[in-house]
Amino acid sequence: MVPVRAAADAIDWEALDRVVAVINGKGGVLKTALTAHLAGLTAQAPDYRVLAVDLDVQGNLALDFGVQSSSDQGQGLMQSVFLGKPLEPLREVRPDLDLVTGGRELGTLSAFIAQQAMSQRDPDLPLRALATSLAPIAGDYDFIFIDCPPGEEVLQQMALGAARWVLIPTRTDKASREGMVAVAERFIRAREGKAPQALDLLAVVLAGVNPSASALRANALAAMKEDLEAFGADAERLLTATIVRYAETVAVGARDRGLLVPELVNVAAEAEPWWQALRDGRPRSDVGRYQSASGEGLADDYFALAAEVLGRIGEEEAAQRAGVQDEQLQDGAEETDGEAGPRAPEHAEVGQLPTQTQGVRA
Ligand SMILES: Nc1ncnc2c1ncn2[C@@H]1O[C@H](COP(=O)(O)OP(=O)(O)O)[C@@H](O)[C@H]1O
Ligand SMILES: [Mg+2]
Repeated sequence: MVPVRAAADAIDWEALDRVVAVINGKGGVLKTALTAHLAGLTAQAPDYRVLAVDLDVQGNLALDFGVQSSSDQGQGLMQSVFLGKPLEPLREVRPDLDLVTGGRELGTLSAFIAQQAMSQRDPDLPLRALATSLAPIAGDYDFIFIDCPPGEEVLQQMALGAARWVLIPTRTDKASREGMVAVAERFIRAREGKAPQALDLLAVVLAGVNPSASALRANALAAMKEDLEAFGADAERLLTATIVRYAETVAVGARDRGLLVPELVNVAAEAEPWWQALRDGRPRSDVGRYQSASGEGLADDYFALAAEVLGRIGEEEAAQRAGVQDEQLQDGAEETDGEAGPRAPEHAEVGQLPTQTQGVRA
């Protein structure tokens, strides 16, 4: 075991400029489901290569992609951080989508990083630990989504240290909003400690809620405003227009089968109609019960959310590019010798995503 010593200036932060951490201090708010679907649907868009990273000791992300049996339970990630070994994600869990699996080994990793931070008297060390491992492979991907644990402060700090953007899923109950506030506090700590790379709140997503309750978004917004005001965050801007609906049967069915919801919906649509087995005197096909509007509705929520999230990143990057151009113009006008200002991201601009259920990837 070698001590983790990576200095901030040894990390290629630019390679990490499209890393999104999906985080809330509470379990059961759909962090893993959202990470899986954002990564899975982004990878379906032409030209995007995507990496999903599971930083949770529960290791559920592999379940959602149906690759649980190939999971190393976080051992590769642990060895990468411990020994400086290159990260080797599971390749092509879907076309253009790789996965760094998590699991129980991350408990050991977390304890090790905490101990290193103590012995080196460097509280910001966790912020650099994952960034150091991820940066060398980050250039291979257009987007990276990190699924974060609800507790485990050290693992959360590692995720926030590597991330450029933070996406917070929340349900409407008080406990999930408290989880959001706990994360906001850690977010501010990370933001101060992780210079030079910026860290910003990208979005708050209401997830796993009843879409027919029309007053819901307004009520949640009012509650969030109070919660987030203390942090100077603009709740109205942060809350996505898309609400990910509650649809437990199809959500559980998808995870059980290792399919994303749109994949399950497509498989179900191709299954025989409900009455066929009855007429032939056979038991009904199992997958047939997902031939329901709620399945398609949830799939559409995920498409809409992916489009909204990528759209936001695209807008932020465009604003950043415009800011850089303004600065260069001003520099030119003043004929200064031009210290390099903040650089705009080097990726291609973010385009439109498909917004309808399409393309089975089962
Ligand atoms: N849209 C949904 N509606 C209802 N339940 C859902 C939905 N999506 C996922 N679930 C279920 O909610 C539980 C928690 O989801 P998960 O993504 O694991 O949350 P977290 O990662 O925040 O702990 C899981 O059992 C999952 O099957
Ligand atoms: Mg989870």
